[in-house]
Amino acid sequence: MAFYIKEQQNGIGEKFNDLSANDKNLLNEYFKIEKFYRYALKEMQAKIENLDNYCETSFSHNPIHHIESRIKTPENIIEKIHRRGYPVTMNSIKEYLYDIAGMRVVCNYINDIYQIIDLLSKHKDIQIRFIKDYIEKPKASGYRSVHVICDIDIYVVGDVRVVPIEIQFRTIAMDMWASLEHELRYKSKNVYTEEEKVNLKKYSDDLYNVDINMQKLFLKKTEGDIEND
Ligand code: GTP
Ligand code: MG
Repeated sequence: MAFYIKEQQNGIGEKFNDLSANDKNLLNEYFKIEKFYRYALKEMQAKIENLDNYCETSFSHNPIHHIESRIKTPENIIEKIHRRGYPVTMNSIKEYLYDIAGMRVVCNYINDIYQIIDLLSKHKDIQIRFIKDYIEKPKASGYRSVHVICDIDIYVVGDVRVVPIEIQFRTIAMDMWASLEHELRYKSKNVYTEEEKVNLKKYSDDLYNVDINMQKLFLKKTEGDIEND
């Protein structure tokens, strides 16, 4: 079966041994369309890099610090389907799992995030499904980012595929907090003491204050540029 060939190529064979026949069948089907998620990430990355360049040439400012992307692992796809209680079908993958293609866009300043989202929303081949603004309303943990869940049209040999992508927009400071908190969470096996939770939330708020102040400084300095022109 193609599934087993792919397992062997990737050297991840044993990881799938415990899966039920249903789960394995689903992954076999999924592997046939996995490439469209990869194409979608490449095209989205090109669009966002072009927007960064557009801002550089139009406003002499690069909003984007760096971009990362990943495809959800097959194990995590199966885990999420079971955790959410979705039927083990391709329909669940297509309808409910909008974060198989995941992108993280790390911006320099808070305003850059909203500017890039606004510019992206004007693209005719991108449809925004919904936005979760965890900057306006941070998670209890202190997590801040704006998640944009959108569909992108991918043209493949005369055919058009509509592929969902989850894009997480955050500042460098928010990315620093989320990366370290993620690592600490993994190291502490998801268990924080109350004091640790309070401290992590405080560090996130402290970093947010730095973000706000850096934004103010940026605006002050660039307004100065305009006056001096
Ligand atoms: P998932 O089932 O994990 O996809 O959750 P969800 O669909 O409810 O989405 P949510 O908006 O909570 O975002 C999930 C993603 O945001 C995670 O995969 C992380 O990348 C990030 N995230 C959300 N909360 C936290 C947090 O408290 N800490 C860190 N480090 N990352 C978080
Ligand atoms: Mg997710």
